[in-house]
Amino acid sequence: MDNRLFIFDTTLRDGEQVPGCQLNTVEKIQVAKALESLGVDVIEAGFPISSPGDFNSVIEISKAVTWPTICALTRAVQKDIDVAVDALRFAKHKRIHTGIGTSDSHIKYKFNSNREEIIERAVAAVKYARRFVDDVEFYAEDAGRTDNEYLARVVEAVIKAGATVVNIPDTTGYCLPSEYGAKIKYLIDHVDGIDNAIISTHCHNDLGMATANTIAGVLNGARQVEVTINGIGERAGNTALEEIAMIIKSHHEIDIQTNINTQKIYPTSRMVSSLMNMPVQPNKAIVGRNAFAHSSGIHQDGVLKNVQTYEIIDPHDVGIDDNSIVLTARSGRAALKNRLSILGVNLDQEKLDKVYEEFLKLADKKKDINDDDVLVLAGADRSQNHR
Ligand code: KIV
Ligand code: ZN
Repeated sequence: MDNRLFIFDTTLRDGEQVPGCQLNTVEKIQVAKALESLGVDVIEAGFPISSPGDFNSVIEISKAVTWPTICALTRAVQKDIDVAVDALRFAKHKRIHTGIGTSDSHIKYKFNSNREEIIERAVAAVKYARRFVDDVEFYAEDAGRTDNEYLARVVEAVIKAGATVVNIPDTTGYCLPSEYGAKIKYLIDHVDGIDNAIISTHCHNDLGMATANTIAGVLNGARQVEVTINGIGERAGNTALEEIAMIIKSHHEIDIQTNINTQKIYPTSRMVSSLMNMPVQPNKAIVGRNAFAHSSGIHQDGVLKNVQTYEIIDPHDVGIDDNSIVLTARSGRAALKNRLSILGVNLDQEKLDKVYEEFLKLADKKKDINDDDVLVLAGADRSQNHR
């Protein structure tokens, strides 16, 4: 099996559906260019029929970005596809992403239809899209809750109709990793012609399992992952790009490569967070404020002796300058000594013990001890040290 994993970023489509996170076209171009330099393979730029603003953004992103494929979302409806084709007219590499709900609840409540008719509509949409573009991705919405036997029939039919990528969304974020992985494996094992298409994951985080499900999909043969920066997206969000990129980079035994320049992860995360006015939770994996901060004495002591004791990722690999040793009431002498030495103050053991006692008293009252506090405790000031 091929060991190249394609990264499909949907920050500007699924991510941008978050209330209050809407971007104007200029901001979307800024994000699209950042995604291009991050190395994503596909940028889902919008859902052109949904609004004139989205239509226009897909046009402008298509002009501004050259390397990645630009993708536009549609329903399995001819008018949607026509509008998407129009919006993609300037894209160097273009993809239509069309699809329909395949779970029993979608078929019954959304479409008041039946399984056979859904397959017909899916096939018709893919064939129609293929009249305009060579690259057509099909999504089986709510595939996570679609029974595998029927899903395999849908997937087989759309590949036969010309789909180049088939997306298996866990739309409601319900699947367990073992279940989602088994679903991908079932499709690989049971769909005739599966080698003619790439299987894609698209996982939501309603139960906090989006990343685990995506990795389970990859381990079972998916070779495209749909992700967003900082994991933004409807409700609890989508799989976070930065988590997948760093899992793949750190776990060599997975033997899969992406095109992501991981050192651009942190700057891209900051840009998306600030443009979308969407703060990143401090303990967010990879890009949260505390992701590389060590605050307890035992950890600080270990990290100061050798970073590998408590760090599995070098912060430079994701574009962060350094880890941080945060001084709190849980910090030990080693961390205090280290901070003082960075500030140019070197104390003998007896003096360090005294300063440490005072430090603990202050740290019990104050959440975060800054450099000035440390210097005052040591009886030094900024003018006396080397910085
Ligand atoms: O979550 C989902 O099912 C989607 C599809 C439209 C791809 O976002
Ligand atoms: Zn989605």
